[in-house]
Amino acid sequence: MFKNLFKNTTAGETEEVNLDPAKMPQHIAIIMDGNGRWAQRRGLPRVAGHKRGMEVVKDITKAASDLGVKVLTLYAFSTENWKRPESEVSFLMDLPVKFFDTFVPELIENNVRVNVMGYTEYLPKKTQKAVNDAIEQTKNNTGMVLNFALNYGSRAEIITGVKKIATEVQNGDLAVDEINEEVLSKSLMTEEVAPYNDPDLLIRTSGEERISNFLLWQIAYSELVFTDKLWPEYQPDDLVHDIYEFQQRDRRFGGVKDTKGGKSK
Ligand code: FPP
Repeated sequence: MFKNLFKNTTAGETEEVNLDPAKMPQHIAIIMDGNGRWAQRRGLPRVAGHKRGMEVVKDITKAASDLGVKVLTLYAFSTENWKRPESEVSFLMDLPVKFFDTFVPELIENNVRVNVMGYTEYLPKKTQKAVNDAIEQTKNNTGMVLNFALNYGSRAEIITGVKKIATEVQNGDLAVDEINEEVLSKSLMTEEVAPYNDPDLLIRTSGEERISNFLLWQIAYSELVFTDKLWPEYQPDDLVHDIYEFQQRDRRFGGVKDTKGGKSK
């Protein structure tokens, strides 16, 4: 499965790379950026980029699942994205409906389970129904978790988690001295994808090198890969290339030598 995979070189040629199965990132998170620019460069409305981006989500989901990734977290809509024009927000809210309408059978075929993290109670009812149906229809799948961040923001997530912990302390269920990294980690939305709470690899497309309020706690020791490819043109080969780049890194987790390979800390 890991042989004869190709990555694009800067010269536009392909080159064979063999991924090391022992160093596969178990949790990959992606900031799917550049949809608007992809569309504008083609003289198309921005939403055409989101539509094409949705197709890319399907291809990358299948590729990640085939590669043995355990969790693929995709930043589909942030708590800040409501600031976009209403027509674009409305289009983005329809995407999960379109996506799951056509793609759930393939997710089931590939043994992929859907999870959604974020403040989903603020999404339109039809979007909530689409995601809840997909979660229900795939709940028995035991392969990769396709984890959509929808109306997600990391600072808000941390505040929600801290409030949960404070309530436990107030109720006498937890002592202040018992609050540690594990307790905080468990209070966050990524507890839904435990034991792979923290991404090993975070990829951002489109050349922007920002985190944009995504998984701030969880990426403490993640490897970051920024690629110039715009999301609508990102292909399975690019994923292989970015995983290959991850495998060349020396993950030290604050220590002095790589003893943990591609595993979560
Ligand atoms: C960022 O590009 C992208 C988004 C805010 C939306 C991402 C959504 C998808 C890729 C489709 C998701 C699919 C499902 C199934 C939910 P941008 O619009 O900020 O691009 P720009 O920086 O070029 O303007």
